Amino acid sequence: MSSLTSAVEILRRGRLVAFPTETVYGLGADARSADAVQKIFAAKGRPPTNPLIVHVSGVAMAKLYASEWPDTARRLAQKFWPGPLTLVLPRFRTIAPEVSAGLDTVGLRMPNHPLALKLIQKFNGPIAAPSANRSNHISPTTAQHVRDELGNTVDLILDGGPCVVGIESTVLDLTLSCPTILRPGGISRERIEKVVGAVEVRDMLTEASTPASAPGQHGVHYAPRTVAYRFAFGRRDVVETRANCGFVTLAAERDIKRRGSSIALPASPASYAQHLYGALRELDAMGLAAIYVEMPPDLPEWAAVRDRLTRATRALSPSPPGRT
Ligand code: TXA
Ligand code: MG
Repeated sequence: MSSLTSAVEILRRGRLVAFPTETVYGLGADARSADAVQKIFAAKGRPPTNPLIVHVSGVAMAKLYASEWPDTARRLAQKFWPGPLTLVLPRFRTIAPEVSAGLDTVGLRMPNHPLALKLIQKFNGPIAAPSANRSNHISPTTAQHVRDELGNTVDLILDGGPCVVGIESTVLDLTLSCPTILRPGGISRERIEKVVGAVEVRDMLTEASTPASAPGQHGVHYAPRTVAYRFAFGRRDVVETRANCGFVTLAAERDIKRRGSSIALPASPASYAQHLYGALRELDAMGLAAIYVEMPPDLPEWAAVRDRLTRATRALSPSPPGRT
């Protein structure tokens, strides 16, 4: 039996399959089955108040599971699907309420990965899938990362190679009076605005206390286990004398440069994003005292990366008196 056929069988039995998408690996289950979906929350150690994204094979399937399909959804899906854009819409009742943490909406996305699309088509149903990592930890961008995170709690891992986008999809809520970005990601605000006009951006980092509408967005998230700090762009002088520590900085070139426990990531937002989680994992495995991350500049094209880094790290507190 091919691994794809086994994967479909496993999903039909209400069990879990990890699969690649262009953003990160997902931990999938039948989105119509409350039992199956509950296994995702258990495997991840994820609070049931944090809704899951439902993966569909295209607009036709999306329309089956959203009870409304506004013109904004039509235009955005036409432009950005398949791709890293999740649309939050009113939920049709056949999607298990557990998927949406009890909300009456559902996040839908058509992933841009051949294996993911084949899986959804062959299964012929919606697949609920959060990132295939333990809750709050770094999202996986290779099949090996999924094994390291979840081991035997997942029935099958489909290996589609490393993810090319590397950070999660943009989550856009279309149920509010103005389209609102709930999570920045692979598709930028500027690109969305070209299609539907002005959008709002919810500042999840400061609205951390709201429950279901800002799920899972508080505290340290997307984080290594090693304590990690961020410092301002161009201020390597603040940290460079620290011993037994890891460093993530911006390279001047296009290539990744590794030297000991220092990793310089390419200074282009897309290729930085592609390698970010892998770099954090690499440093996390080295048993370091701390990891220091140089924040990329505060520019629109870096918004999604800066969002993840802000969640994965703490702000470096000012130097103690007597030091600079
Ligand atoms: O790129 C991605 O989106 C990846 C891949 C696997 O597709 N998935 C992913 O899922 O990142 P997850 O569960 O780690 O993140 C889902 C986030 C939630 O934390 C929540 O912020 C938002 O999507 N979300 C999902 N459904 C929602 C809803 N109905 N209302 C508001 N936010 C929702
Ligand atoms: Mg996640």
